[in-house]
Amino acid sequence: MTDRTTRLAVYPGSFDPLTNGHIDIIERGVKLFDRIVMAILVNVEKAPLFTAEERVATAREVFRGQHNVEVETFQGLLVDYARHRRAHVIVRGLRAVSDFEYELQMALMNRRLSSEIETVFMMPAEPFTYVSSRLVKEVFSLGGSVDGLVPAVVEAQLRAKRLSGAGDAPP
Ligand code: PNS
Repeated sequence: MTDRTTRLAVYPGSFDPLTNGHIDIIERGVKLFDRIVMAILVNVEKAPLFTAEERVATAREVFRGQHNVEVETFQGLLVDYARHRRAHVIVRGLRAVSDFEYELQMALMNRRLSSEIETVFMMPAEPFTYVSSRLVKEVFSLGGSVDGLVPAVVEAQLRAKRLSGAGDAPP
């Protein structure tokens, strides 16, 4: 739990997998907020490539030693999770105009659900403006390089999934 003087922000997402774009947003976020909680959605309806446990372990490894970044999972409504953490800010990355409509809908729905929680949008560095978890998985599964787009630990895990046959590898 956080006292009300600590500026805590929740950075929610699927993070399947974590990309360098996500990391860039968190690094920017910790300059604005005292703490960021990376909140990984456990979505029972979606079939993620990485389990929630794998995604948590990866993110904790990436942010190991960074005491102002926490990694947790959440289920249900994001605003309920934010309230439970006593966070008043939701951080979302905004890459291109194409993100805008979905993000606007979510931000306004979340505001309707909980008017005391504000969504703050942050732009990633230019090299990450086209990077998404979905494209990373697609490119990797088709044999393309994702070097520089994801942390080394994620690249290794993608490779391991491919070897285990879980990553849709080409023949
Ligand atoms: O990385 P993603 O998949 O774009 O993240 C989407 C996420 C997890 C932020 C969104 O799906 C979410 O908040 N889900 C929790 C359920 C919820 O609160 N739905 C209403 C939000 S408008």
